[in-house]
Amino acid sequence: MRVDPYSVEGKVDYDKLIKEFGLEKIDDALLNRIKKHTNELHFMLRRKIFFAHRDLNWILDEYEKGNKFFLYTGCGPSGPIHLGHLMVWYFTKWLQDKFDVELYFQFTDDEKFLYKNLSYEEVQKWLYENMLDVIAVGFDPKKTFFVIDTKHVGIMYPLAIKVAKKITFSTVKAAFGFTDSTNIGSIFYTAMQAVPSFLPSVLKGKNIPCLIPHAVDQDPHFRVTRDVLPKLGYYKPASIQSSFLPPLTGPEGKMSSSEAIKSILSTDTPKQVKEKINKYAFSGGQPTVEEHRKKGGNPDIDVAFQYLRYMFEESDEKLAQLEQDYRSGKLLTGELKKYAIEKINAFLKEHQERRAKAKEILDEFILKV
Ligand code: TRP
Repeated sequence: MRVDPYSVEGKVDYDKLIKEFGLEKIDDALLNRIKKHTNELHFMLRRKIFFAHRDLNWILDEYEKGNKFFLYTGCGPSGPIHLGHLMVWYFTKWLQDKFDVELYFQFTDDEKFLYKNLSYEEVQKWLYENMLDVIAVGFDPKKTFFVIDTKHVGIMYPLAIKVAKKITFSTVKAAFGFTDSTNIGSIFYTAMQAVPSFLPSVLKGKNIPCLIPHAVDQDPHFRVTRDVLPKLGYYKPASIQSSFLPPLTGPEGKMSSSEAIKSILSTDTPKQVKEKINKYAFSGGQPTVEEHRKKGGNPDIDVAFQYLRYMFEESDEKLAQLEQDYRSGKLLTGELKKYAIEKINAFLKEHQERRAKAKEILDEFILKV
């Protein structure tokens, strides 16, 4: 297994990651504490899809004292948006609504230009496309601020160099696996990803707690950030971290923008979704109907079932029923896939309707400084 911001490979062992990264598990005590403020728990919390955190208890301590946090998350514009991105962002919207807080949303066009084999112009095209998807999630335009690295560089750069001065090459080498042939822009980049975690504190002239919802592969960036920020007089950012939505090909790795065949995209048509699930979604079912009826299927490795669990079946009772019927052999792979296709398409229909109108309000979201 390998998990860092620049590669996720193999079957991910989340308990092992908790130990290796030094994360805290999200336990029932913490869930109850969150529930006191949110009334209900998002199904991604109930199902431990967001499974780990750093300093979330501190965020709630401050919140209970009347000291609100802000949310920070982001997107690297290197290709189309897929369900794995949307999962984290829809959960972030839930947090924004429930806690009534501001969200700073970073677009790292610099990062993707530096790390990927893409021209600057291609990255700018994805930047625009990806912003439409983020708006389509439904964030509150009055409380959401897009920070675009190459556009907001004037306010970001003075802060990034303060971070960069506290980070050595050997630290980033170990955290991101750099070698002597890594380009120097990539080596500097983590300083840019640190900036939004204290930018609001700088803009407002007082320290504000920061909570970062993100997929666990981004943790190495924020480990470095957490080491540096207290040295600059700011709080360490807290985080809430998700596991990976599996790619269509099965339980290993993660959905990825550069491998469109493994992914369901935000702009896929109902027909494309149907084809992708039917043709490519890894099945935990048996090779023949007779065998399936006799032995039953395995929902743990079945991609259609996992998509329902991660994102598309909000009802725990319904999900438990599907699981039971699939294990017993009563529910066939084709039937399970059909249900997943309907759910995904209903979700994407609404997302796409909001996406079509997003360009009219894009300007409202850009941070004005
Ligand atoms: N590096 C992330 C990516 O490649 C983008 C990003 C920037 C981000 N800031 C973030 C993701 C904060 C989560 C939280 O997609």
